[in-house]
Amino acid sequence: MTTFDINQYRITEEPFYQAQVNEVALYEAAYAARLPVMLKGPTGCGKSRFVEHMAWKLGKPLITVACNEDMTASDLVGRYLLDANGTRWIDGPLTLAARYGAICYLDEVVEARQDTTVVIHPLTDHRRNLPLDKKGELVTAHPDFQLVISYNPGYQSLMKDLKQSTKQRFAAMEFDYASADVEAGIVEKETGVDAGLAAQLVRIAVTARNLKGHGLDEGISTRLLVYAATLIKQGIPAADACRMALVRPITDDADIRDTLDHAIDAIFG
Ligand SMILES: Nc1ncnc2c1ncn2[C@@H]1O[C@H](COP(=O)(O)OP(=O)(O)OP(=O)(O)O)[C@@H](O)[C@H]1O
Ligand SMILES: [Mg+2]
Repeated sequence: MTTFDINQYRITEEPFYQAQVNEVALYEAAYAARLPVMLKGPTGCGKSRFVEHMAWKLGKPLITVACNEDMTASDLVGRYLLDANGTRWIDGPLTLAARYGAICYLDEVVEARQDTTVVIHPLTDHRRNLPLDKKGELVTAHPDFQLVISYNPGYQSLMKDLKQSTKQRFAAMEFDYASADVEAGIVEKETGVDAGLAAQLVRIAVTARNLKGHGLDEGISTRLLVYAATLIKQGIPAADACRMALVRPITDDADIRDTLDHAIDAIFG
């Protein structure tokens, strides 16, 4: 029988995270009280990086689960598997985190069906336990266990939202793209491009973010700025890198594409 090693989920090197306001202190206080935390904000603004940084800083293992609409409660808590010796129970990621004292990060939790999401409820209130109904076991959460969920407000339809009874089990922190100079610093640090180039890339993102709601669902994320800078580091001319990394991923609309391409030419042409 293989034994489970929680240490594989430990983060040994500091993940770079540029704080924007007081989010590190807020999270530390929430963790100290083991309050469940919800991170809200647009794609690619640093939510996952923040959790990785905090898990490292607190010295706790981090188990991340990417949620999707096909996910069942068993995918989170575990199931019996058939093997040569008969049936064997396999803990799911949520159960592992609760048993061994990890931070469990449920990414894009709103994608999961509501009947899946409710399995987290007993872990997020005074009970701090997880019933494994099929196995007939009640797992009491390890003292270090904490639950973190992320959520992109605005993308989901009305049909896809968290129940109030789920939302109101979490303290929430709002994230957004950093201010221009801070974001340029992130791009610089992540990729090694110089400050001038990083600032030019951020200017393109600012232009695109102003088109949000006017033909764009979402602006250019910090993640895509890092991609553009990475391509430039690979030797691709800046304007080509920006078209590939900043514009083509976010729109299929010819007018918006041309507007953004012109902004790129104005900056790099
Ligand atoms: N504050 C920050 N400090 C350091 N890097 C950052 C920061 N914000 C964004 N980044 C960069 O942007 C990339 C994307 O960030 P991250 O993966 O955390 O986004 P996210 O908010 O989790 O997005 P999604 O909702 O799509 O999962 C990171 O890999 C990192 O390069
Ligand atoms: Mg993420």
